[in-house]
Amino acid sequence: MKNTISYTSNSFLIEGGRPLRGKVRVSGSKNASLPILIASLLSSEVCIVENVPNLLDTATTFELLEELGAHVERREGEVVVDAGSVDNHVAPDSVVRRMRASVLVMGPLLSRFGRATVSMPGGCSIGVRSIDQHLKVFEKAGAHIEVKHGYINLELRKIKPVEYTFEVITVTGTENALMLLSGCEKRSVLRNIALEPEVMDLVEVMRKMGVEIHIEDRTAIIRGSKDLRGFKHRVIPDRIEAGTLMVAGFITGGDVIIEDIRVDHLGSIIEKLKEAGAHVDLLDLRSLRVRGLEKAKPLSISTAEYPGFPTDMQAQFMVLCCVADGISEIRENIFENRFQHVAELQRMGADIHVRDRTAIVRGVDKLYGAEVYSTDLRASASLVLAGLVAEGTTIVRDIYHLDRGYERLEEKLKSLGAAIERLPHN
Ligand code: EPU
Repeated sequence: MKNTISYTSNSFLIEGGRPLRGKVRVSGSKNASLPILIASLLSSEVCIVENVPNLLDTATTFELLEELGAHVERREGEVVVDAGSVDNHVAPDSVVRRMRASVLVMGPLLSRFGRATVSMPGGCSIGVRSIDQHLKVFEKAGAHIEVKHGYINLELRKIKPVEYTFEVITVTGTENALMLLSGCEKRSVLRNIALEPEVMDLVEVMRKMGVEIHIEDRTAIIRGSKDLRGFKHRVIPDRIEAGTLMVAGFITGGDVIIEDIRVDHLGSIIEKLKEAGAHVDLLDLRSLRVRGLEKAKPLSISTAEYPGFPTDMQAQFMVLCCVADGISEIRENIFENRFQHVAELQRMGADIHVRDRTAIVRGVDKLYGAEVYSTDLRASASLVLAGLVAEGTTIVRDIYHLDRGYERLEEKLKSLGAAIERLPHN
């Protein structure tokens, strides 16, 4: 399937200082779409996934599925995956390097074919991001694991039921384990699982495929099947895109209605925005209104697993803190190196000091436009937000990071009145 994304430029030009006003729709969730598309490898029947955002990461997932031998077709509003003819079990380095989530093919390939070879994901810019927990579950299920020439080779002759307590809460680790155990007819138990809405969306899909999954607190009880059905599923809205747009509406002193969301997935984000002084009105279960009538109040933020405050919103809230009236404290507990936006925000006049995993942010009267570089997906979103409130012109470089996870963010911001353009050339 062809990559439908053809962005011509790698930079945004932003003229700051315009309040955002109007209505905007949120796309389907990136981090729910990737595992759900990959779950189609578990069945030889056709799977239909609706509300898949048009992103670099979803395009990479199509490429990966096709590399394995699946047929992928994007139609109006849906993606159809037929993994009936999958005959390759290797996720090559060229793909894993571009998208770490490629490691999610391990669980389904091992479950359906008893083998998988996946390039070893190295460190990435936000941290080391080990996959030891994924591998421990595979091993407990009876997999033989060997690392050779930069690839992890996994083989599983006969799957055994697993009882495992995750040593750290891991999103893709939980997803990989659930997908592997979907092929085990005996009862498995996973404790200390991730409960992120994206994981729960995958659980719903797996139930549609015929897997029995019971979840209570952080424990999942799974009874799989050898013969999983195809499914049709609509991916949940992207709570991080929603949160990013909410922050944008607030800090620009705007008045924005955000539609096609799941209000119940946004609890910690709404709470922090309100604490900062935003007026947030829930219009119904799928839309809300954010108004920025006053200057932001300083915040104390500590990232945590869901339902805590998401690490994927830390950089965006840092921008809010940069222009708040007072001193904020932001602690990053999930990834050890997720403050790379700090140096770029400092170039725009932000007053931030980082010690270990804590950033102390002193609010300034103004940020000033500058040329800044994206280092990762959410960092790039924070630079766009900073550009929207800054005085003067901001150029955000390397926005391919942003295109990995936000569907045409600049068009959405523009529809709300922002002055943002993709530059024709770098
Ligand atoms: N960890 C281990 N061992 C493991 C797995 C994880 O030590 O086997 C550690 C990691 O190093 C990290 C922590 O556990 O310190 C949490 O990592 P997790 O595995 O939960 O992260 P992930 O599954 O690799 C997903 C999202 C990330 C999001 C995190 C946390 C996808 C495709 N990615 O990553 O999304 O930040 O969960 O919520 O779902 C993004 O969208 O920008 C993004 C980075």
